[in-house]
Amino acid sequence: MYKQNIYKILSNENIAKSVYKMVLQGDTQYITAPGQFINIKLDGKFLRRPISVCDYDESTITIIYKVVGSGTEDMSVMAAGEELDVLTGLGNGYKIADAKAPLLIGGGVGVPPMYNLAKKLIAAGQHPTVILGFNTKDEVFYEDEFKALGADVKVTTADGSYGIKGFVTDAFPDNYDYFYTCGPMPMFKAIENTVKTSGQYSFEERMGCGFGACMGCSCKTKYGNKRICKDGPVLEREEIIW
Ligand SMILES: Cc1cc2nc3c(=O)[nH]c(=O)nc-3n(C[C@H](O)[C@H](O)[C@H](O)COP(=O)(O)OP(=O)(O)OC[C@H]3O[C@@H](n4cnc5c(N)ncnc54)[C@H](O)[C@@H]3O)c2cc1C
Ligand code: FES
Repeated sequence: MYKQNIYKILSNENIAKSVYKMVLQGDTQYITAPGQFINIKLDGKFLRRPISVCDYDESTITIIYKVVGSGTEDMSVMAAGEELDVLTGLGNGYKIADAKAPLLIGGGVGVPPMYNLAKKLIAAGQHPTVILGFNTKDEVFYEDEFKALGADVKVTTADGSYGIKGFVTDAFPDNYDYFYTCGPMPMFKAIENTVKTSGQYSFEERMGCGFGACMGCSCKTKYGNKRICKDGPVLEREEIIW
C-alpha cells in the first residue's frame, strides 16, 4: 500500500562527488521493509523520480541520490524548509532471510538501500559483511555510517584509489550464508557468476508510474511476468532469468 504526502526537507547535503543526502520529514508509516523506494514529484517533470529509502524512523526518511540528469539536478539545489510531493510505501523491499552471516553488496547508488537493511539484520542478531563498490575515491560514501552500525565493511574502487582495488567480487569474504544486493547490471552479472548461496537482487530500472498501473516496468521471471515497481524491485535469485 502506498501513500501520497507532502514532506518537508530537513537537510540536503553534498556527501560525495555528485552525490547528495536528503532528509525528509513527514509520515513514514507506509514504509514497511528495507529496499522499498519513494517516488518524488518535481516541478515541470511528467514522471516522478524513484529513489530508494536509505533509512527511516517514525518521522523522517533519508535518501541518497546521484545527480545524473535534470530531475536530480533540481533536487540538488533544494534547501531545508522546502517541500516535496512524495509517494511512499512503494515496492516489496527485501525479505529478511534466516541467516547468520549475510553478505550485503551495494554498487554506487545501490549502496543506500543496504543501510536500513544492515540495521535490520543487526537488530535481528545477524552479522553482516557489507561491500561498498565505487569507481573512484571521490565517489565513496557511508563507509563510517555502516561501520557505526557494527557491520564488517569493505570498500572497493575500480581504479584502486581507495580501499580494495577492483570490483565488489574481489572483496567477497570466504564465509557468508546469504546475500542481498543493489547496483548496476554489470555488477549483478559478476555477482551472479561468483555467489554460492541464495540471495536477493534489487533492480533500479527505469520506471513509468511506479505503483503498478502502467506495466512499463514488466519483466519476465521464472514465475511469470512481474512489475519491477510493485512485485519488485527486489527479486529472489532463484526466479531471475538473466
Ligand atoms: C526503484 C529505484 C530506486 C532507485 N534508487 C536510487 C537511489 O537511491 N539513488 C539514486 O541516485 N538513484 C536511484 N534510482 C535511479 C533514479 O531514479 C534516477 O537516477 C533518476 O530518476 C534520474 O532522474 P533525472 O531526471 O536526474 O535524470 P534523467 O534526465 O531522467 O536521466 C538522466 C540519465 O540517467 C539515466 N537514468 C535515469 N533513470 C535511470 C535509472 N533508473 N537507472 C539507470 N539510469 C537511469 C537516463 O537514461 C539518462 O541517461 C533508483 C531507481 C529506481 C527505479
Ligand atoms: S512503472 Fe508502471 S507498472 Fe511499474
